[in-house]
Amino acid sequence: MARNKSLLVLGLILVLVACSSGEEEADAEKRKADSLAACEKPVFDEYKASELADLMRKMDADMRIYREHLEKGRIDSLDLSMDYSTLKTATPTDPTVKTDVFAGMADAYLFNVGKLRERPENAQEIFNTTVTSCLTCHQQFCPGPMVRIRKLLL
Ligand code: HEC
Repeated sequence: MARNKSLLVLGLILVLVACSSGEEEADAEKRKADSLAACEKPVFDEYKASELADLMRKMDADMRIYREHLEKGRIDSLDLSMDYSTLKTATPTDPTVKTDVFAGMADAYLFNVGKLRERPENAQEIFNTTVTSCLTCHQQFCPGPMVRIRKLLL
């Protein structure tokens, strides 16, 4: 009798464990779906953006301004802070994007931005390299906005 009871308890525990990991999985799936949805419909929607999505919008807006100035040959008068130092710490919609690969691509991008901030002679070339480093990361983690980003290339 006692043995049956402990089997019953064990059974219950197993069921509980199975349920909760199922929930966690559903949760992770939902975050992934949210992230993909965010990547599909960037910038224009009113949905609550993650810290990372917010930062991306700022990066995107800055690059558009930079590009305009570059086209008019006026980067000397450009006053953009281009401070994206939270790139690696900002919370993404989907936490699974925060991998070593993400960090590496973030470093490459920040390196290029650093060069842009110095207003180099070959600003256009470095600008294009920077946009390419946006695209490399997006290819991996967030393909939705790539069409929009590619249009930045000069
Ligand atoms: C290191 C990787 C990485 C780099 C570099 C990067 N992005 Fe992103 N970007 C992401 C990820 C991941 C998301 C999804 C963010 C989220 O939903 O939390 C995103 C989202 C976006 C979005 C959608 C924001 C929204 O409203 O949901 C835009 C637009 C964007 N990026 C533009 C850019 C531009 C322009 C650059 C370069 C100037 C750039 N990104 C560089 C990884 C990157």
